[in-house]
Amino acid sequence: MKRLRVPTPGIGDASGLAAARAARRRLLAASLAGATLAGVPWRVEAQSRVPTPRQTAGPFYPDEFPADGDNDLVVVKGRSGIAKGEILLLGGKVMDLSGRSLTDTKVEIWQCNAFGRYHHSRDSSPAPIDPAFQGWGQSVTGDDGEYRFRTIKPVPYPGRTPHIHFLVTTPKRAQLVTQMYLLGEPGNARDDVFMSLEASQRAAVLVRLDKAPDGKALAGRFDIVLGVGA
Ligand SMILES: [Fe+2]
Repeated sequence: MKRLRVPTPGIGDASGLAAARAARRRLLAASLAGATLAGVPWRVEAQSRVPTPRQTAGPFYPDEFPADGDNDLVVVKGRSGIAKGEILLLGGKVMDLSGRSLTDTKVEIWQCNAFGRYHHSRDSSPAPIDPAFQGWGQSVTGDDGEYRFRTIKPVPYPGRTPHIHFLVTTPKRAQLVTQMYLLGEPGNARDDVFMSLEASQRAAVLVRLDKAPDGKALAGRFDIVLGVGA
């Protein structure tokens, strides 16, 4: 029999409780339908979305925000040139467990530059600084729940497989800190932060990169599912 997920409500979370009760009612109704159709395969619409797992913010969330804080990380206003690295067009939808778009939600990303160094006063890496790379940016979701960035393909640095850090903040101030990884990256299996996740959670933070329509940049989608309380 197919396993069904019923969300567990947070303490004192009335809307979560109502959602969980509704899901249980649907499950009961489906079970009864199944009983009357003995031997016939039956389907139910279950809560099958895996909440995007929480991951450490690490030590390099900006301690000083750049003057240019938009969603284009490969150009820094007032500076010439374009960031080193492979351009990545990154987007996705922020949604709740039922798939409903979360609008007006702030998505922040930060990552190291193409040489493996963060824009952070405490990153003591000997790798060069890239003055054309913004290092951090933000995008606010519209009615469709979509966020968009132009950034660079993440690279490894000592001890870590390529990743991009995310901080998502809803209008109700619910927050999720997580990290996004690249599908097929050989370093993933040796990365302690990534491997600390269960298999279904790992699948939820892996992103496949394809060629963008222009044939030059890379493109990837990272959909983010916020759990109860979003
Ligand atoms: Fe990091």
